[in-house]
Amino acid sequence: MNTTARFHKDLLEGKIQPTLMVRNIGQLCTIDAGSQDAEGPRRLESMQDAGIISDAAVVVAGDVIVAVGSETEVVKRLFPEGVPGGLTIIDAAGHAVVPGFVDPHTHTVFGKTRQDEYERRIKGETYLEIAAAGGGIHSSVKDLRSRSEEELTELATVRLREMLSWGTTTVEIKSGYGLTLDDELKMLRAARQAAENVGIRSVRTCLAAHEMPHEYKENRQQYVRLVTDEILVQVKKENLATRCDVFCEPTVFNLEETLIILSRAKDLGMSLTVHADELTSFGGAMLAARMGANSADHLIRIDDKGRQALAASSTVAVMLPGTVFSLGLKGYAPARGMIDQGCALALATDFNPGSSPILSMPLIMAIACTQMRLLPAESLVAATLNSAWALGKQDEVGSLAPGKKADFLILDGDDYRLIPYRAGHNPVKTVFIGGQKVFSN
Ligand code: NIG
Ligand code: FE
Repeated sequence: MNTTARFHKDLLEGKIQPTLMVRNIGQLCTIDAGSQDAEGPRRLESMQDAGIISDAAVVVAGDVIVAVGSETEVVKRLFPEGVPGGLTIIDAAGHAVVPGFVDPHTHTVFGKTRQDEYERRIKGETYLEIAAAGGGIHSSVKDLRSRSEEELTELATVRLREMLSWGTTTVEIKSGYGLTLDDELKMLRAARQAAENVGIRSVRTCLAAHEMPHEYKENRQQYVRLVTDEILVQVKKENLATRCDVFCEPTVFNLEETLIILSRAKDLGMSLTVHADELTSFGGAMLAARMGANSADHLIRIDDKGRQALAASSTVAVMLPGTVFSLGLKGYAPARGMIDQGCALALATDFNPGSSPILSMPLIMAIACTQMRLLPAESLVAATLNSAWALGKQDEVGSLAPGKKADFLILDGDDYRLIPYRAGHNPVKTVFIGGQKVFSN
């Protein structure tokens, strides 16, 4: 018996008590294609299927969706004797409902913002020139090391609240501005506490290999060993992160160092992701695919071999167009071509103080549509179901189907295409996580 049928039976037999029904949904984007979605992330034409149901209703029991469908059909099927008294009913007033956004790549825990660098770039300096002159990741590292866990938690809490207001219901948060055992642990603890404060779902990633700390410049191997033998081990022991990431670039961590760190993480039972082919075409995506990473992220400079490797693998290509936009550059990652050749594409903000201070998934979708030529439906699939796959959370979130968590957004309009179309506007009216209303604009 499939999930829909099982829930139906349990509801009729009174084994499950529905708690919430959202009705009068003009356009419900389920992003659900049934059993096909259990096989892997969406690719090719299936990325255009938003799973739309008109005049729909969603029924929830506790924190889980138990039925979706046309309102007439759902009410007739589930409540043949009339809607039960204890059921909370929300009228969506004909608006659209979509799954909560899943943002699979952020650096939300940091201290100061870096608007000085933004201004310098507008005047003509490049990201790498600023980094070489003492700015960039190293300046955030120096700043973060001087701050307490409580202070970082407070700052991250405010940022996560803002993300929630833009419809993000699951967020990935990386470490990577600590680069010592204590500071990396401090970041991940702050991330955990901040997400708990806000009530947003989170997945944490250890990115101790975000930059080579100044103090190890002459002894790179020793830092790689610190990451593999101490930081990852402790992170795992305290269950502070389930994933491991490496900034794989010739000037940061080369392919061999990346391989050593990711192999260790894999042995420890962590899932893998890579900052790959961002500034240089370097084989990062190929390495990610070969190692069975959940995702390869950035990919601005990905070459043909990397594209083919991703298309033939289950590794999700995570696009972060907020960096090119915020840095004022021109060349976006070749997302359109990659979808057409069969890569599973997802979208993320890469929210960080240097290259992408954007935390709004709707704005990222807008940039993806106009600058990378994604169709609005593809941008929605990439920001929900495929990004859930990038995090290994596809069984819980990313679409609206029986058995999934009741994480969804009531929009302020009646068509999901208004999300990217009205760039800069917040399209979110109400946010639900686990069947609870957690935010209202
Ligand atoms: O994802 N690519 C590496 N790291 C960040 C930038 C971090 C920073 O500038 O602070 C990124 O773009
Ligand atoms: Fe990043």
